[in-house]
Amino acid sequence: MHRYPVLPEGIAYGGDYNPEQWPEETWHEDVRLMREAGVNLVSLGVFAWGLLEPAEGVYDFAWLDRVLDLLQENGIKVNLATPTASPPPWFRRAHPGARLVDQQGRVVSGGSRHGFCPSSPEYARAAARITERLAERYATHPAVVMWHVHNEYGWANAACYCEVSQEHFRRWLRERYGTLEALNAAWGTTFWGLRHGAWDEIEAPRNPAPGLIPALQLDFQRFCVEAHIELFRAEREVIRRFSDLPVTTNFMIANCKPMDYWRWAAEVDVVSNDHYLQAERPGNHIELAMCADLTRSVAGGSPWMLMEHSTGAVNWQPRNLAKRPGEMRRNSLAHVARGSDSVLFFQWRASRFGAEKFHSAMVPHAGPDSRLWREVVALGRDVRRLAGVRGGRVAAEVAILWDWESWWALELDWRPSVDLDFRERVEAYYEALWREHVTVDFAHPGADLSRYKLVVAPSAYLLTQEAGKNLRRHVESGGHLLVSYFSGIADEHDTIHPGPYPGALRDVLGLTVEEFHPLAERASVPVSGGLTGRVWSERVRPAGARAVRTFEGGPDAGHPAVTQHDLGEGVAWYVATAPGDLRGLLAEVLDAAGVDRPRGLPDTLELVRRGRHLFLINHGEEPVTVEGVTGVALLDGRACDGSVTVPGGDVVVVAAPDR
Ligand code: GLA
Repeated sequence: MHRYPVLPEGIAYGGDYNPEQWPEETWHEDVRLMREAGVNLVSLGVFAWGLLEPAEGVYDFAWLDRVLDLLQENGIKVNLATPTASPPPWFRRAHPGARLVDQQGRVVSGGSRHGFCPSSPEYARAAARITERLAERYATHPAVVMWHVHNEYGWANAACYCEVSQEHFRRWLRERYGTLEALNAAWGTTFWGLRHGAWDEIEAPRNPAPGLIPALQLDFQRFCVEAHIELFRAEREVIRRFSDLPVTTNFMIANCKPMDYWRWAAEVDVVSNDHYLQAERPGNHIELAMCADLTRSVAGGSPWMLMEHSTGAVNWQPRNLAKRPGEMRRNSLAHVARGSDSVLFFQWRASRFGAEKFHSAMVPHAGPDSRLWREVVALGRDVRRLAGVRGGRVAAEVAILWDWESWWALELDWRPSVDLDFRERVEAYYEALWREHVTVDFAHPGADLSRYKLVVAPSAYLLTQEAGKNLRRHVESGGHLLVSYFSGIADEHDTIHPGPYPGALRDVLGLTVEEFHPLAERASVPVSGGLTGRVWSERVRPAGARAVRTFEGGPDAGHPAVTQHDLGEGVAWYVATAPGDLRGLLAEVLDAAGVDRPRGLPDTLELVRRGRHLFLINHGEEPVTVEGVTGVALLDGRACDGSVTVPGGDVVVVAAPDR
């Protein structure tokens, strides 16, 4: 179920507010500045457990009462957090059994957040208690419009390796498999004679030896996701006893490998995400777009919330580059273009102390007489002008398959090459599509794909037979499918599908792969049509498919590198290497699939349609004129009559006329 927060205005604008770090006089300056910037929503109390419950069972809500009243008086709404991501030091001392244990079996020290074991019943009880107190006290406070449960589940404690967690893992396995026979069969334990004869012979992968049972590792990852989801559900159910307001928890989509957000999305009323730019990375705005599209996709296409991003530098990258003038605006509006109904930051006011004091904020250490503050105020104005964008949906004709389980499986140890990298392949295809101005959704391999003209599977190593059939149905009914190498190889237990590779995709691709020939580090092979292949080569044997590109060197010289297979009404393509330049090949596939896209625009222009709004974000320095655009440019009120020019670094949002 996806419900929306009841916000006073269109797009939510604001961020994490931590008034507990400041004297009360500052709160008054805060609300004055919030009004100046047009802030209408703050996340409150995210890390305030130790202040709300200074000793076990002793509460102090007086300060939070005053903050909530002050915000309400100033028309600022609140996304009220449960503070359970940072248990107070007293909790640690009173419950040593609830401390997080790392993979080497060491207790993680205190003095930071997230240092608890996700399987600890003591932690679950304490979290439920503070949540109950907050929910009963504030459920009907007029400022509160939604609930922010916890913060970034799994940020530092995705897995715990203590005895309690190990026991929990065994219980979870019992429920999943029922019998040891079923577990042994699924895990393939005849290999090395690792048959388990009793549940308590099973160990979590603490301090793992090389060659640990792959299926055990995958199940442990699945278990860890469920352990965190159980905690979330428990808090959500406590809140539900007092409040019907939407409940969310902030994801770290694409940047938290251990958390399977397809599973998480089913649990929240509204999907929300935190995104931080990889400051030093060229083209980092493309990674941002990918994360936004993935967030929208896990939300089932519904609008979502950008819960955190940064006004400038973060504090945790090797070199924390500040955003250039205009960059924050482009970043924020790109999220909105791709489905976010909010522009929220970590955090409102830069901290003076603590671990994150060099992290940017809406109010920097320099105070309001600063470029950054002026940009924050200007962005607030932009956001108000985009009120009508809220609720709009983004339509995509192309989907990329994304599966956390396949990511885990691909990158377990002892694969044919260490250069097999899930994100690298997905990002390569995503970037080529972005540069072709094609908006994409992400899809789980088992999802309904019928609305897509083209489905791309850049790295689908783990693919069940059912998912393979799903892809086959997609092609037979007229869709195009583009699959990259080392896909469709193994099932959910990391067992290779029977018969020649790629077992889950042989029929749909019309080929088999006889042998893998991973390339040496930095080696490449020539491919016909002027392409260069990296990372991978393999011996493809067509069985219905035809070669459209051929390896011209290396171990598979003279054999197919790219194939095409007509099946039913559609076509399945296969790419048996990592082409250095994907764009030409992709353009060919997009044309064949009939994917509509603008032509002749520079690949630094981001172009996305959301509802009746066209977002044009110019990441280049030169102005770009786009023809065929009519409507009103909302950010400056200009009328566009057949074309629009977007100055370098600028953003234009055109509302098409009402029909
Ligand atoms: C995460 C957390 C925030 C803060 C920021 C800093 O997103 O949720 O509390 O630590 O990172 O970038």
